Amino acid sequence: MCGIVGAVAERSITAILLEGLKRLEYRGYDSAGVAVFTNDGTLARMRRPGKVSELEQALEAEPLVGRLGIAHTRWATHGAPCERNAHPHFSGDLAVVHNGIIENHEALREQLKALGYVFTSDTDTEVIAHLLSHKLKDLTDLTVALKATVKELHGAYGLAVISAKQPDRLVAARSGSPLVIGLGLGENFLASDQLALRQVTDRFMYLEEGDIADIRRDSVQIWDLDGKAVERETVQYRDGAEAADKGEFRHFMLKEIHEQPAVVQRTLEGRMSQNQVLVQAFGPQAAELFAKVRNVQIVACGTSYHAGMVARYWLEELAGIPCQVEVASEFRYRKVVVQPDTLFVTISQSGETADTLAALRNAKELGFLASLAICNVGISSLVRESDLTLLTQAGREIGVASTKAFTTQLVGLLLLTLSLGQVRGTLAAGVEATLVEELRRLPTRLGEALAMDSTVEKIAELFAEKNHTLFLGRGAQFPVAMEGALKLKEISYIHAEAYPAGELKHGPLALVDNDMPVVTVAPNNELLEKLKSNLQEVRARGGQLIVFADEKAGMTNGEGTHVVHMPHIHDILSPILYTIPLQLLSYYVAVLKGTDVDQPRNLAKSVTVE
Ligand code: G6P
Repeated sequence: MCGIVGAVAERSITAILLEGLKRLEYRGYDSAGVAVFTNDGTLARMRRPGKVSELEQALEAEPLVGRLGIAHTRWATHGAPCERNAHPHFSGDLAVVHNGIIENHEALREQLKALGYVFTSDTDTEVIAHLLSHKLKDLTDLTVALKATVKELHGAYGLAVISAKQPDRLVAARSGSPLVIGLGLGENFLASDQLALRQVTDRFMYLEEGDIADIRRDSVQIWDLDGKAVERETVQYRDGAEAADKGEFRHFMLKEIHEQPAVVQRTLEGRMSQNQVLVQAFGPQAAELFAKVRNVQIVACGTSYHAGMVARYWLEELAGIPCQVEVASEFRYRKVVVQPDTLFVTISQSGETADTLAALRNAKELGFLASLAICNVGISSLVRESDLTLLTQAGREIGVASTKAFTTQLVGLLLLTLSLGQVRGTLAAGVEATLVEELRRLPTRLGEALAMDSTVEKIAELFAEKNHTLFLGRGAQFPVAMEGALKLKEISYIHAEAYPAGELKHGPLALVDNDMPVVTVAPNNELLEKLKSNLQEVRARGGQLIVFADEKAGMTNGEGTHVVHMPHIHDILSPILYTIPLQLLSYYVAVLKGTDVDQPRNLAKSVTVE
């Protein structure tokens, strides 16, 4: 993870770097730092543990003024989050910031120590700084020395380097961690995400894997993996920089929860006719490829993985296609047997998650029929490297706990299911038409579920003093329960586990007592009676039940049972609707506990390291 910003300009760049870091805090926020080649000709830095605001305060007290600089916001991988380990790291006249993990850092550290280099941090990044310093002794030119340095690195890196001896340039290298150059007039910039630079430019050049760049005020030169000089396309964004504004809401997470009717509507727009899904929404070759699909393999991480788990129920029930779902970090290291004609589907909000991207790259060698990305970022690596794409239209998600990205992914996956069923002739036209109609009504239903906001806020009080919670679901509601448990642990730090309700008596029932609230989602479907029996098992052990139930499910409040009635919805769409109260529940529990809702401890929005 971590965020990188760099600038080479005629004007003072510290404020630009700081603004960029604030926009990148979603990538990590346990410490931050900046290094500037100051107007008095020295390389100076300021680093602070904690959020970018701590660094900002330190710089207000002691400004750094210069026209060349690099900055970093960190998510610790090697070494605790403290000032000494914060980037930039120095070696002689060099300053380096790094995103990624250098796997052979221990061996390199020993070699460099033997050569007399002294280490002041526990990071793998400091190894890069010293190694580059060492190469510069013979190779003098910064980009030449950087090319020689990265040849010795194993692992992943996005790197930005400045040198007090060559103060007209900012050099960069990319392998496994995204970097983009922002093009200005008489000034140029670098960042790990274009969002960091939207305040200064709308023109960008994306570095590709293995690229090295020499960025000066009025030129940019790039070399590819083989050392060949290359041109990279310039992309211009005409829309205004996306607003990072909480509006009337106290947190971004609450704002994003309430945006769901609108973004679901946007994700559906232009993708359905009166009674059918438009298959070409997945790309011009989609119809031809979908006709050949006999299996689906879904790979994703975190919340996106839970979306994939829901899709499995849909794909098998509606399209009659066998589906497997796996977390990317497992899939990428497993010997996988690929069935003929299997579509490889990745799901990712960011499109930059390291494990998902690596799984896609491995999949290309394994003989899948084609790859499809369901992703929220059109310019992401995942989208660029997949054969087919469906972009979710969630807009920028800032809260680290994913909410609107999840529900729009579910919408995208249901569109995929209907398309596959349609093209392969396994889904009756009438069923498709009904579901298209239901999808059209979904934003209104989501709005109704959001109207329960204050009811859920009240229920949250039951959790404020608890340390453990169990989430139960059956069928496609089991992954919804998993997502509910993930949300609660991510932002309220309460231990939460999800179980298929039928597994209760095979172990977790032993944990149930008065101190363990049990949350469950109960749409009115054929599993309802079975679920009700499971809930009796909980009540019989004194467990407190919180049930989000269909208004027609015949469930009512009683001693130790709190029922919240949900608007009625078609069973297939119920996982999307029932996600809403669980998001609200974790949000209000976290608010009661006083945690940092939008930036919970130890987590990051975009996980671009393994
Ligand atoms: C991180 C985020 C999660 C997200 C997961 C996968 O852990 O905190 O919210 O679900 O990464 O991210 P992706 O961008 O691939 O969906």
